[in-house]
Amino acid sequence: MDDKPDPNTFSNYSAFNIRSLHLDIEVCFDSKVLKISTETKFTVKQVEPKLLLDTEKLNTRTVHIKVPESSDEYVEAAFELQTETSVGQALCIDLSKVGPLKVDQELLVKIVSETTADVIALQWMEKEETSGKEKPYLYTQCQSRFCRSLFPCQDTPGVKFPYTANVTLEKGLAVVMSAIIDGEGTATGENKMCYKFSQKQPIPAYLFAIAVGNLVKHDFGHRCAVWTEPEILDKCAYEFADVESILQIAESICGPYQWTRYDFLVLPMTFPYGGMENPNMTFLSPTLLTGDRSMVSVLAHEITHSWTGNLVTTVSWEHFWLNEGWTRFIEDKIKAVMEKDETYRKFLLNKEQKHLNDSLEEFERLQKPELTALVPNLTNRDPEDAFSTVPYEKGCMLLTYVESLVGGPEAFAPYIKNYVETFKDTPIRTKAWLEHLIKYFPAKADILKAQPWDQIFTSPGKSVVSIDLDNPLTNKCKKVVQKWIEASTAEDYDRMVAEYPDLKTWSQDLKIAILGTLREHELIWPEDKFEKLTGQFELRDTNNIELRTPWIRMGLKSGIDSSIEPALELVKTCGRMKFLRPVYVSLYENESSRQRAIDTFLSMKQYMSPISADWVAIDLKLKSEQA
Ligand code: BES
Ligand code: ZN
Repeated sequence: MDDKPDPNTFSNYSAFNIRSLHLDIEVCFDSKVLKISTETKFTVKQVEPKLLLDTEKLNTRTVHIKVPESSDEYVEAAFELQTETSVGQALCIDLSKVGPLKVDQELLVKIVSETTADVIALQWMEKEETSGKEKPYLYTQCQSRFCRSLFPCQDTPGVKFPYTANVTLEKGLAVVMSAIIDGEGTATGENKMCYKFSQKQPIPAYLFAIAVGNLVKHDFGHRCAVWTEPEILDKCAYEFADVESILQIAESICGPYQWTRYDFLVLPMTFPYGGMENPNMTFLSPTLLTGDRSMVSVLAHEITHSWTGNLVTTVSWEHFWLNEGWTRFIEDKIKAVMEKDETYRKFLLNKEQKHLNDSLEEFERLQKPELTALVPNLTNRDPEDAFSTVPYEKGCMLLTYVESLVGGPEAFAPYIKNYVETFKDTPIRTKAWLEHLIKYFPAKADILKAQPWDQIFTSPGKSVVSIDLDNPLTNKCKKVVQKWIEASTAEDYDRMVAEYPDLKTWSQDLKIAILGTLREHELIWPEDKFEKLTGQFELRDTNNIELRTPWIRMGLKSGIDSSIEPALELVKTCGRMKFLRPVYVSLYENESSRQRAIDTFLSMKQYMSPISADWVAIDLKLKSEQA
């Protein structure tokens, strides 16, 4: 188990070590195709007759290979695709043409391929679907296993490579990548431009990213900028003005920033996640644009991945918690610094427990409780099916618990930097994390060794270890929740509103915590009571989707018809699955809106990102999940 290879790749990555990758990419909006030629340099580590690479629904045209030690010429290589599965298929390249290979020899491989329609990694948008309606748009999402549908690769997080890319596209469009742009771009006949990019640090395939559209940027200081469509540039410039200071807080926790620039792209509403940590170009959802900077924790989260995830990277999706649990943990530390309140961490951890509970219930319902282990077994599984808040919240809780065992935040601070330094060049697995931890705190070795590690890593369900989450802010919220639960007459409701005249001015985080907890109680709200709550929190007009979502779900659960319109509005406009999916599920569970949910989905599907569309189809029982 300790050196279990990645079960979610078809590639023979331990036989052939990738050294570097060059891509020539042609973006064809007319045919919705990316024509990609790759040139990959490998070192032979074990002599095997075939090179196996991951692909999914890819048109592979030609493969050429060369061993520079024995020849200057590329030769054409035979290749075949192995059996197609729901997670792709191996491209099997016959190496016999270059003669018997030797260990440590260099092997060069050139592959010409084209993407196909409807691959999950790509969201193509017609110009009418964009804010400006003048230019088309394209973006990728490769995590977890979708890079293989763009070009043949070793699609496993433990394998990293530096890359360069030349991107050709029509004039008037801008392009960004998970890399740094090299120069201004050159005109290349027929109204086309070619842009060069370079990612000098080795990155795993899942961090490959490209986006094309009518993009403009706003600079924040010397190393950060936001890119987006011109229509929302000013909003972005305001919302994320703290980026440099967040980056500095992250540096004070994790060590110097290692990627030169930190730029980010605010995508169209269809983007399926809150954020995606593509190196040098984080992708963010426009749902963060609340106008009050209340959702910058997502930015803090993606910034943190610059250390935990992008420098220190999990060896496979089984150890995904080392990416996300660590990142959640540090995200909260950053937030506590920003709030100048160390107890804020407990409040945040507490606030997220309901999302953990939701995930646990969901896997229970799907009869897959084994996927709620901190380190799940993903052999014969699609890593996408295992994705949930579990690695985030159980991981964050474990690290917080460990922090308390070894002496608290002060004792932990130098360890965090040491952890990053130690593992930044090797993929990490859970056992290595634990060994390093114990070694780092020799005086605490006994207490650390005495923990029930086996259970912590493998038992399904709620966290095996936890800390006391009692804190003043949660208590403040609990009081409001309790009173709303107990209120049962019109007088009670009025008293409730009168008692908290300043509630409107409470921070969004507090309001989100209250609404989330009320939602979790699954009460059936009488309409007049719901109206009072709506008024007190100004929910009808809020543009904060973290507030709108629990409000809508509570209304639908209670059979309140006036919740249907806002719910439909939300699912039509928001692609971010954290909100889209639960609202669709609530619409589905409410009998009087079920058919409208299905009809809305069927009419919107073609405009949605393939990732969101895939999941919603499952949620609405229009498609069954893979076993
Ligand atoms: N890397 C994740 C997003 C992701 C995970 C995409 C797995 C595909 C597969 C990103 O860093 C993330 O965690 N985003 C969260 C942000 C939140 C926890 C602050 C999101 O999208 O909600
Ligand atoms: Zn993350």
